[in-house]
Amino acid sequence: MTTVIKTENLRKEFGKYAAVKGLTLQVEQGEVFGFLGPNGAGKTTSIKMLLGLVTPTSGTGSLLGAPLGDRTALARIGFLPEHFRFQEWLTAHEFLQLHGELLGMDSRNLNLRRDELLEQVGLSDFRYKQLRTFSKGMLQRVGLAQALLNRPALVFLDEPTSGLDPVGRRLVRDIIHELRAQGTSVFLNSHLLSEIEVTCNRVKRSGSSPA
Ligand SMILES: Nc1ncnc2c1ncn2[C@@H]1O[C@H](COP(=O)(O)OP(=O)(O)O)[C@@H](O)[C@H]1O
Ligand SMILES: [Mg+2]
Repeated sequence: MTTVIKTENLRKEFGKYAAVKGLTLQVEQGEVFGFLGPNGAGKTTSIKMLLGLVTPTSGTGSLLGAPLGDRTALARIGFLPEHFRFQEWLTAHEFLQLHGELLGMDSRNLNLRRDELLEQVGLSDFRYKQLRTFSKGMLQRVGLAQALLNRPALVFLDEPTSGLDPVGRRLVRDIIHELRAQGTSVFLNSHLLSEIEVTCNRVKRSGSSPA
């Protein structure tokens, strides 16, 4: 089995406050890994350390076999942030176009993938609408499409259903099941036990001692 995430005693202090106290975990290729904990448990900070967006105070880790922050590894992952701010003056179509270009996708592949994902997240009919007209749930769905554009080997989803109604939650759940069937690894942050229960095949509690 290939290990896609490995951390050893990752710790993050903000001033005197330890937001993450020694996180040790390992995620294998194809796993849907649920990272469960109440608000403030350190889940988002943990993801940000894994993505090289927050520098750990101490500890080490690797992502797709490379040290944390490695750009080649980051180009192979997808990320839906918890508190996203998208370019709201763009249409959904333009937004995915921009992110595909930033990922260096060739135009034919990008066109196909963009259309496929807009369909999958149920936004085909809204593709030429500006994101500023979207509801929170629609933004979350276009953000999910963005996270999957490059067919990532590993996807980070930080509270992906927080703004969604039951139909939207179902859609996200179906997409996660599909990713799992394709062998894509998923790291899912959630404070909802029920969400983790129905989608994940392994769970770790955020804030718990090393396991
Ligand atoms: N940039 C920051 N500066 C200071 N404190 C922070 C910062 N980011 C997070 N924290 C604190 O770290 C703790 C964990 O936050 P977070 O990782 O967002 O938790 P979760 O995602 O589990 O809700 C919280 O108490 C939060 O206030
Ligand atoms: Mg969070």
